[in-house]
Amino acid sequence: MIKTTVNGDMRSFDGDPETPLLWYLRDELGLTGTKFGCGAALCGACTIHLGGQAVRACITPVSSADGQQITTIEGLSPDGNHPVQVAWRDLNVAQCGYCQVGQMMQAASLLKDSPKPTDDDINNAMSGNICRCGTYPRIRAAIKQAAGMTAAPEKGAL
Ligand code: FES
Ligand code: FES
Repeated sequence: MIKTTVNGDMRSFDGDPETPLLWYLRDELGLTGTKFGCGAALCGACTIHLGGQAVRACITPVSSADGQQITTIEGLSPDGNHPVQVAWRDLNVAQCGYCQVGQMMQAASLLKDSPKPTDDDINNAMSGNICRCGTYPRIRAAIKQAAGMTAAPEKGAL
């Protein structure tokens, strides 16, 4: 029996320990905010936090979460107002939106480790998160806003 804490709730899993966390979260727990993109750790759409670190849920087996804390986008903040989420909304970052949960989870991890990231820090942390819509300039701007390095836009300015 594998025991984890998912978004603050104790969970146990007695299925195949090699099941990717992505399918456990989406299919067993109904946490569908985490997306499937490539299934091979190449796109970042499935990024979650495991033990406080950003990981790719598509290649991470449930067994590696035993005794660990998992956070998904549904648990990133109690009310959807993590600084990253606020900045993403303020700057209308999403286009199709498919990649954006992974982007936000990666960005939240970056800001936890580097509260005032340099451009190189952002490049290094975000380079594995692919956006087919090319929203990279808005992602970068939102990370800087979330870090308090730029002012939020006035309401109605965008
Ligand atoms: S779906 Fe996991 S990295 Fe692409
Ligand atoms: S917003 Fe469409 S893939 Fe990123």
